[in-house]
Amino acid sequence: MSKSLVEWAKGNGTRPPIVTCAAWKGGDGKSTTARELAYLLDAVLVDLDWDAGCSSRSMGYRHENYVRSPLRDGFTKGRTPTPISGRRKADLVPSYPDLVEEQPHRDEVTDALERWARDWNRPVVVDTHPGGCEATYGAVNAADTVVVPAVMVKESLNALEGMVDELTDYPLLITPNKVDSPPQWARRRLAEIVKRHDIPMGPLVYDEPWIRKRTINIAISSEPVAKRARRFVDSMDGLVKAVINYA
Ligand SMILES: Nc1ncnc2c1ncn2[C@@H]1O[C@H](COP(=O)(O)OP(=O)(O)OP(=O)(O)O)[C@@H](O)[C@H]1O
Ligand SMILES: [Mg+2]
Repeated sequence: MSKSLVEWAKGNGTRPPIVTCAAWKGGDGKSTTARELAYLLDAVLVDLDWDAGCSSRSMGYRHENYVRSPLRDGFTKGRTPTPISGRRKADLVPSYPDLVEEQPHRDEVTDALERWARDWNRPVVVDTHPGGCEATYGAVNAADTVVVPAVMVKESLNALEGMVDELTDYPLLITPNKVDSPPQWARRRLAEIVKRHDIPMGPLVYDEPWIRKRTINIAISSEPVAKRARRFVDSMDGLVKAVINYA
């Protein structure tokens, strides 16, 4: 029987759920997926990517306009950050560029995310920097589900294989992203990777060239959904279901 969002959001009895979007390859769709998932799950989006291509900037947050960083204060002062409320987009705890040098130890990141989820009493979606760095390991360790977008090209599949071989026993959920008639060998390779570790798969997310041209920063899934976005939003709805029912 499928769980409802309301039931899922209550979490495991100690805290609401944490969903981390991670991939060992850059550019495969972590941030795009994280923003939509956070919006649809009514979760707080915690951005742990310090690069200019991060979710915070895509969502219109410019760190240079602020003196303080709630994320830094959260890590260094033990203060639970107050998320910035989003209209037609997720509530956000933005990242800051110095996080690259100031990354806390992974255990501190895990502890902080778990504490914040409890304090907010809301699910948390974490966007991460590509690859295995302290902040990403911390977020992966905290996660009830690790959503891994994977593009069906050689380099991404190599990176995916490295990631799943390293993170055996982690609650991974692979979503093939930017799917555009992948060749037979790529389908076979993905199937082998998934089968070897018995990893569940989320829905296919098709390549939608219009996504790359978007300049507005509201969630693609926010109503009213544009006609061209219907197929993408259907995939995101499918991903939400897969996350909620993740065993
Ligand atoms: N389904 C899709 N169809 C078409 N383009 C997409 C899709 N998903 C993401 N993109 C585009 O691919 C690029 C990378 O996406 P995104 O920023 O989400 O990846 P990322 O994994 O967060 O990258 P990084 O590793 O740099 O943080 C962006 O231009 C984004 O608009
Ligand atoms: Mg990103």
